[in-house]
Amino acid sequence: MKRPDVLLSGKNVTKVFGYGKNKKTAVHDVSFDFHEGEIVSIVGESGSGKTTLAKMLLGLLSETSGEILYKGQPRSLKSHADRKKYWKDIQAIFQDPFSSFNVFYKVERLLRDCIKLQGLKLSEEKQLEMMKDACSFVNLKFEELHNKYPFELSGGQMQRLMIARIFMLHPKILIADEPTSMIDACSRSTILDMLLKLREANNMTIIFITHDVGLAYYVSDTIYIMEKGQFVESGPADEVILNPQHPYTKQLISDVPKIHEEWNLAI
Ligand SMILES: Nc1ncnc2c1ncn2[C@@H]1O[C@H](COP(=O)(O)OP(=O)(O)O)[C@@H](O)[C@H]1O
Ligand SMILES: [Mg+2]
Repeated sequence: MKRPDVLLSGKNVTKVFGYGKNKKTAVHDVSFDFHEGEIVSIVGESGSGKTTLAKMLLGLLSETSGEILYKGQPRSLKSHADRKKYWKDIQAIFQDPFSSFNVFYKVERLLRDCIKLQGLKLSEEKQLEMMKDACSFVNLKFEELHNKYPFELSGGQMQRLMIARIFMLHPKILIADEPTSMIDACSRSTILDMLLKLREANNMTIIFITHDVGLAYYVSDTIYIMEKGQFVESGPADEVILNPQHPYTKQLISDVPKIHEEWNLAI
């Protein structure tokens, strides 16, 4: 079988914050290839540079040096129109699903905006059908939620709505930065299963960022282990987890049996 095409890649990507004695290299000389339809996890402890890398991938932060290529080409993100075009293809969900939205907008508006964002001119009937489909994709009922405000939803419900939005926007790449770290263990496995379903439905490339190597093993094809801004080990999930080479990976994995116990209790 032909290996899927490389969609997003990085060559010696570095991000330095600040100057002089306040200088901090958050991401240090990382290179990577993320393929079409692949679920990649980036795993590392808090402060290892994961979110900084995610922001560079999204074009929210510029690289200090090195280069990020999309479909083999340097990205052009100078104008607003360029960025808008890029963000049709790459979207993100974050740790705190409430932070991304106007708290005064009801659920219906939040979903309807996805239709608007795509510039789709659809009949009211068709719009309702799309919103209902997106909700049922994440096991929510549009009729029960459409009139609610974000603060009336649980963290798990809100994160599922974020996934419903991604289902409607169907970007080529989704960056999920610690999407389960603020929700309870039970909703956590649901969210992970929905990420897997998204990939099934749209052949989406998913970049799953986590400090939890157990979760990474559960969802991903490929794992990159990040320590202090650098990738210290990467490869197919089975190889990295079952036959770790780097001491830092071994240290992360030593917590896994405990994680699995928690998981069995949670599921
Ligand atoms: N805007 C910023 N200015 C200065 N330092 C930053 C900034 N953003 C992140 N950092 C630093 O970069 C390092 C990596 O942070 P981050 O990418 O958020 O890590 P992670 O997401 O893995 O927890 C940390 O030491 C953090 O303090
Ligand atoms: Mg982070």
